[in-house]
Amino acid sequence: MSDLVQLSKDNDIAIITINNPPVNALSPGVPEGISEAIEQINQDAGVKAAVLIGGGKTFVAGADIKEFGKMTSGKTERGTSAFLPLLVRIEDCSRPVVMAIHGTAFGGGLELAMAGHYRVASPDAQVGQPEVKLGIIPGAAGTQRLPRLAGVAKALEMCVDGNPVKAKDALALGIVDRLIEGDLLKGALAFAREVAGKPAPKTRERKEKLGTPAENAALFAAARENAKKKQRGMIAPQAAIDAVEAATKMSFEDGSQEEQKLFVKCLFSDQSKAMIHVFFGEREVAKVPDVPKETPLIPVKSAAVVGAGTMGGGIAMVFANAGIPVLLKEADQAALDRGLATIQKNYANSVKRGRFTQQFMDERLKLIKPTLSYDDFANADMVIEAVFEGMALKKEVFGELDRVCKPGAILASNTSTLNIDEIASATKRPQAVIGTHFFSPANVMRLLEIVRGKASSKEVIATCMALSKKLGKVGVLVGNCRGFVGNRMFGPYRREAQFLVEEGSTVEAVDGALYNYGMAMGPMATGDLAGLDVGWRIRKEYRHLEKPGVRQPLAEDKLCEMGRYGQKTSAGWYKYDAERKAIVDPEVTALVRKWAAEAGIPQRQISEQEIVDRCIYILVNEGAKILEEGFALRAVDIDIIYLTGYGFPNYRGGPMWYADTMGLKKVYERICEFQKQHGELWEPAPLLKKLAEQGKTFAEFDKEKGA
Ligand code: 3HC
Ligand code: NAI
Repeated sequence: MSDLVQLSKDNDIAIITINNPPVNALSPGVPEGISEAIEQINQDAGVKAAVLIGGGKTFVAGADIKEFGKMTSGKTERGTSAFLPLLVRIEDCSRPVVMAIHGTAFGGGLELAMAGHYRVASPDAQVGQPEVKLGIIPGAAGTQRLPRLAGVAKALEMCVDGNPVKAKDALALGIVDRLIEGDLLKGALAFAREVAGKPAPKTRERKEKLGTPAENAALFAAARENAKKKQRGMIAPQAAIDAVEAATKMSFEDGSQEEQKLFVKCLFSDQSKAMIHVFFGEREVAKVPDVPKETPLIPVKSAAVVGAGTMGGGIAMVFANAGIPVLLKEADQAALDRGLATIQKNYANSVKRGRFTQQFMDERLKLIKPTLSYDDFANADMVIEAVFEGMALKKEVFGELDRVCKPGAILASNTSTLNIDEIASATKRPQAVIGTHFFSPANVMRLLEIVRGKASSKEVIATCMALSKKLGKVGVLVGNCRGFVGNRMFGPYRREAQFLVEEGSTVEAVDGALYNYGMAMGPMATGDLAGLDVGWRIRKEYRHLEKPGVRQPLAEDKLCEMGRYGQKTSAGWYKYDAERKAIVDPEVTALVRKWAAEAGIPQRQISEQEIVDRCIYILVNEGAKILEEGFALRAVDIDIIYLTGYGFPNYRGGPMWYADTMGLKKVYERICEFQKQHGELWEPAPLLKKLAEQGKTFAEFDKEKGA
């Protein structure tokens, strides 16, 4: 038998144990091992029932995702279709098979569990069909067995949203038959003894929860409509709905074949390749080549935040939500009261929307301790500074922190534009200083850019990377350049968007094109949301660095001069009604035409394709420069930054992956065309040119770098 699966016995009960760390994925060898074990059980007259359990921290977390890449690139012919007959063999086993679930039974793991005759679970276990998050659908009859166990509505929800269900709910839904407190194996063996010798139910033969055509028609129509809105542009959710529908209209065998066809179609799509890239990318970014896994971590049991404004308040919530007590310091009582009121309002809104319970809110609020002095800072393991953006003030604050904080405390700045090394120079311990660049709203956005200063110690870096996961964030380590990675790329992106409007397109056409591409919001609407005055102030400060003769966008500065700062003034690129709904403003269109005429910018018709190419390829070009200059560790880091912080669509894998998908030669040639038309702002990144000439991809560049 395969090393990955063991068969043992507890008197008359057989025990099949899967041992394929870290998550017991169904890698080659596991299905074969289970199959052999079932064969032996069938032939062993001394066995009355069987328990299948996962060794280590979990049941089976699904198919081995690494195998999918091999399948689509033709490196292996092995598909998931081999699972289907295995699962039928388990269901046809002559003795009852009890699946004992702890940790997660996800994807192929839940499909395996559903092929057992019974399922028992630890109370903290979770089950789910998360395939849609990888751009695929269940591929081993999950869409066929789940509605038979949990009903059509719940199966649809689980397969379409991909979110897990806790053991207690799984019990109520009929996915699990019993919860086992304490020792799972012991409980599962006792359960197996109870059911031994009795007729064992086969999930695939059950029909009682499959609903009537009339009920189902309404469910499927609503699911399709909902998925179209909530999972805009994605093919897998619609395919998952088709597959569950097949369960209600076809035999189990035909439904499984239908599911298989849809699964293969999704698996071979660009969307699934992109989303699998994202799955591994989110884990890859946690790895920093020169900061080994064994680097000692600084325990962060208490934190402090300086500044209770937009960011500071959100950051305090992030720590409180993770159960870490946090001091919140302001300059004066009025500002502190304002900051706390906003935090309370944000929590109350979440309670109203059902995201948190009142109890959760009360507990979190207790963890946030307002203060006007640095007195208690001596106990804090980590401080995050989020005061106004200005070097003099930041240095003053860091000087104070150096004075009051204990040795070993991490001193972090949330600055979005300032030089971390200069901030660190205000202290006698630059090794303790680092950038933690949260994104607004800090309690919602998943991205955390961790900015490495030249002196930041490995312990401080490793702690911030590990902490980001605890805080529910995706931490990405970036270098200390202007705008770091995300905003350095976002500047040119928004600049091109404005150029396009100034050249004859419209605000709504530019936003519409990028929204249709899949961005959560168009660039003009994003500007209005963040506040146009923020960029305006920064541009004014850095105007002396602009190269004379190089074209600069003009309309946004003029809008700011008119007091149109965006949503906060109810007018920016759009007008806003009382509900903050954006309304196209003909005045802006007319003004931009006038300003363009005054500046002598020729007007022309601009296609949706050009809008997308100009805005996305400028991201790629800047990303390639960042990569070559070493401010991002890998191309995939840039992708993850854009996916988690800038509303880039997951199913396109991030800007660098998207460029790989289009082909770097094609991207490079298009950039050269833009350079001819628009000049030096489109100078191709040398790395992009080199990879295009070599016929390589950014992903290959990452691999060669040892990522
Ligand atoms: N295949 C291959 N590798 C996997 C994997 C899988 N299904 N699930 C996790 N891993 C790897 C991760 O890449 C990571 O590797 P690394 O240490 O080298 O970076 C390691 O296992 C540990 O994973 P996490 O860091 O994510 O560990 P956590 O403890 O935080 O989370 C988990 C564990 C909840 C199981 C999470 O890993 C997860 O959600 N995994 C994916 C589950 C999934 O999507 N399953 C469906 C797969 S598709 C399928 O089953 C198709 C079927 O219908 C035929
Ligand atoms: P804000 O203006 O909303 O809040 C700043 C707060 O700091 C004010 O409440 C002010 O009273 C307080 N403050 C000033 N001096 C202080 C002192 N000595 N001690 C205690 N509190 C003091 O500013 P915002 O937007 O929260 O920005 C804070 C930092 O975060 C800036 O560095 C900014 O660049 C950065 N940032 C902002 C983002 C945003 O979208 N607003 C996004 C990411 C980073």
